[in-house]
Amino acid sequence: MLLLVLASTLLYFSSAPTDFLKSCCTPSVETISEQPHTKEQNSDRGSDKNALSPSSDTLGDQTARLKNVNNNSNHTIYTQITSINGMDNQRSINSSESPKSEGDLDKISNNKLSNMTGEKANLSSVSGEPLHCPTMPPNLEGPVAVNTSSADLAAEQRRHPELLPGGRWRPAQCRARQKVAVIVPYRSRASQLPIFLRHMHPFLQKQQLDYGIFVVEQAGKREFNRATLLNIGALESMKLYPYDCFIFHDIDLLPEDDRNLYACREQPLHLSVAYDTFNYKLPYETFFGGANAISVGHFRQLNGFSNKFWGWGGEDDDMANRIKHHGLSISRNPADIARYTMIKHKKEKRSPLRSKMVREGPSRFTSDGLNSLQYRVLDMQLLRLYTWIHAEPLNK
Ligand code: BGC
Repeated sequence: MLLLVLASTLLYFSSAPTDFLKSCCTPSVETISEQPHTKEQNSDRGSDKNALSPSSDTLGDQTARLKNVNNNSNHTIYTQITSINGMDNQRSINSSESPKSEGDLDKISNNKLSNMTGEKANLSSVSGEPLHCPTMPPNLEGPVAVNTSSADLAAEQRRHPELLPGGRWRPAQCRARQKVAVIVPYRSRASQLPIFLRHMHPFLQKQQLDYGIFVVEQAGKREFNRATLLNIGALESMKLYPYDCFIFHDIDLLPEDDRNLYACREQPLHLSVAYDTFNYKLPYETFFGGANAISVGHFRQLNGFSNKFWGWGGEDDDMANRIKHHGLSISRNPADIARYTMIKHKKEKRSPLRSKMVREGPSRFTSDGLNSLQYRVLDMQLLRLYTWIHAEPLNK
């Protein structure tokens, strides 16, 4: 049985491309050290009682560890990306370098993405491949129940035998319109993680997405750097699967209405328009915090997020400025649909530097982002409910 699981997972990932880095950025320094993937060597993890160490029986799914499925022993990677190759948005979305068997289908899906309104007719099934899923998934409920009471990871794991390793899923009956990587920056929110996962898997499945959830946990002792974790998640997810669309999502936000589709559009989409904690009102016009959807091509064009926002706040405002600077605009669903409940927690201390950083941001848009990202991956594991990436941001 174990062998069967390993073999099928191997097969599934053996075609996984690493195009995103190649087509986006040229790493100038890579893999300065290789370390075997053992519990003892992740001393950082061991010293952090809140780390999501999947080596424990409750979280771990030893049969699906990345070293077994991805044939990639370089778990400690130091990446410095110094240039973008100038690939434009359209071409990057319509990458023709997708892998063979899945590739043709990916191209079809990517072409579809260039018309992100998704209004085109379904593809015919001449090749015997499933038809595209309908533009509006048929089983949406509208408002959905939101449960913020405590949850248990092991129980959630048992509830989701349908998931592929790494918290991945795609509909069996139709071809998902977009391949979506949900990237969740993380540190010390152990109680929120199972609540988030309990809500999100059924929500995303009802939307008939081909999705994976990536929890990017910050290692090291420095202040939290949400934006760099999002950049890391974007790059690392693309090494595993040719996603079309990134959903950048805070762990404490639960969507209240499944008509708020987690898919990319012609413009970057701000998903979390109305939170309960803001009385279901947008706090200010350019607000881009919480949860948003940015296509892979746009993300590349924007040079990702800034890596310079250490501590709470400002990085989302900087992204809103990047969007405007690049001639793009923020789109949003109506506030009565794009509603969210925030899981209660202690307020973080605001970074006193954030306003100044946001003001000075435009001078750095081309030099600070994906092309300057430096980080070290300490561990990565394909767990049942999510892909866990334990990484240390190394930018100044
Ligand atoms: C911060 C943003 C934050 C917003 C709403 C702003 O002052 O700069 O990062 O999302 O407040 O809380």
